[in-house]
Amino acid sequence: MTARTYFIRTFGCQMNEHDSERAAGVLEMMGYRRADDPETAGLVLFNTCAIRENADNKLYGQLSHLKPLKLADPQKTIVVGGCLAQKDQGELAKRAPWVDVVYGTHNMGRLPELLAAADSAAVPVVEILEHTEMFPSALPARREVRHHAWVSISIGCNNACTFCIVPLLRGPEKSRKLGEVVAEVRALVDDGVTEVTLLGQNVNSYGRDLVALDPGDGPRNRTRFAELLHALGEVDGLERVRFTSPHPKDFTSDVFAAMRDVPNVCEQLHLPLQSGSDRILRRMQRSYRSSRFLDLVTEARETIPGVAISTDIIVGFPGETEDDFGDTLRVTKLAAFDSAFTFEYSKRPGTAAVEFDGHLDPQVVGERYRRLTDLTRRLSAASNARQVGTVQQILIEGPSKTDAQRMSGRTRGNRLVHVGRTAAAVPAALLHAEITSAASFYLLGRVTDAPARPAVPGPLPTVAQ
Ligand code: 5AD
Ligand code: SF4
Repeated sequence: MTARTYFIRTFGCQMNEHDSERAAGVLEMMGYRRADDPETAGLVLFNTCAIRENADNKLYGQLSHLKPLKLADPQKTIVVGGCLAQKDQGELAKRAPWVDVVYGTHNMGRLPELLAAADSAAVPVVEILEHTEMFPSALPARREVRHHAWVSISIGCNNACTFCIVPLLRGPEKSRKLGEVVAEVRALVDDGVTEVTLLGQNVNSYGRDLVALDPGDGPRNRTRFAELLHALGEVDGLERVRFTSPHPKDFTSDVFAAMRDVPNVCEQLHLPLQSGSDRILRRMQRSYRSSRFLDLVTEARETIPGVAISTDIIVGFPGETEDDFGDTLRVTKLAAFDSAFTFEYSKRPGTAAVEFDGHLDPQVVGERYRRLTDLTRRLSAASNARQVGTVQQILIEGPSKTDAQRMSGRTRGNRLVHVGRTAAAVPAALLHAEITSAASFYLLGRVTDAPARPAVPGPLPTVAQ
């Protein structure tokens, strides 16, 4: 008998990438081997996203591609899991009845049972649980990159941003115990991992649910998240710690201090702005205001030398006026983001904002979107230009996707750097690179033995409107 094979396609965020690595781990434990494409794989799993409408459309498009393959080979197994499955539930099986298994955000651990049930079922097996007692972290993982691991520190979200479907799909926030996270990281380091990215919908509120059960033994004035960063600073062999995403309303100074004081915590901060208008932030139910956001940006830059700050911004939220949008441009310029993820508002049925007045004409949204991305691209270019002449630590990831003569790596600030191939520039190597030139979204550099040489502190980049 030929080995059973699988192919996983991941849509959406890093939490989904983490979950897909667990799904792959579970399948490999069952004896499946990885296939290179969905056409030849015996089992195809789509780990889905529901955050914006185009994620929905993409999934249904890709499922239609699989239909003829399934008709030609009824033995092929098609599995759909994750956020969109949780959102659409039975509807998904109705729209794509050629799928075999549909499971939600809380039951990936049940994959073996669901696949067994699908073997003897004539219709799709659909299992959507409303909550779980088990973190996916308890499942085996098949990591994509040997030196990097995603580590989830909490699941779910207790906020209710009016545009966001995540709390509906991933449930209330639940934190993992600090000792469990540290133990997982230690085991990963023993397995060759040098860089971890901590994942949670709101990492700053990490552990609030645990404090009630066990106040812990860290300093009383420190949040659990800062305590976790300090604890990970003690893990020998762990070179880099990143995290995403914090929430501006819950950000505390002890986390900035930890980013400054704990050597393996990278100088990289992803701080979602969403809108620069206080009126829109209120409608979004984001309980900070633009001045508080800018204070955090200032504090981060003052506390953590060289920190690179990225953000998420939504354009065209219902009721957004030209003045509100002007505030977003203004705050974006003042924050001088090093990079930004920008989104057009997308209606998500079930969220509060769908019912709001003032949904905008897509043409208006598109036009504002272009103005914002023009600004954020120029800010990225200015920020990258400041790196030229510096010497920075880079972690090599692999060959450049655009130029076979080069290898690509990331700085501690998470900037992409392409360097010429050298004997030392192999995946997972930690090297120094002198930055020789800069473009909007990448840097070019040369591997060097010279010690790190940071950018000369100076005024933040300013760009014309
Ligand atoms: N429309 C557009 N963008 C959204 N995001 C979340 N929900 C929506 C939506 N309905 C964006 C937010 C969030 C990022 C992960 O996705 O900016 O921070
Ligand atoms: Fe969504 Fe807001 Fe929770 Fe982030 S904090 S997952 S945007 S509800």
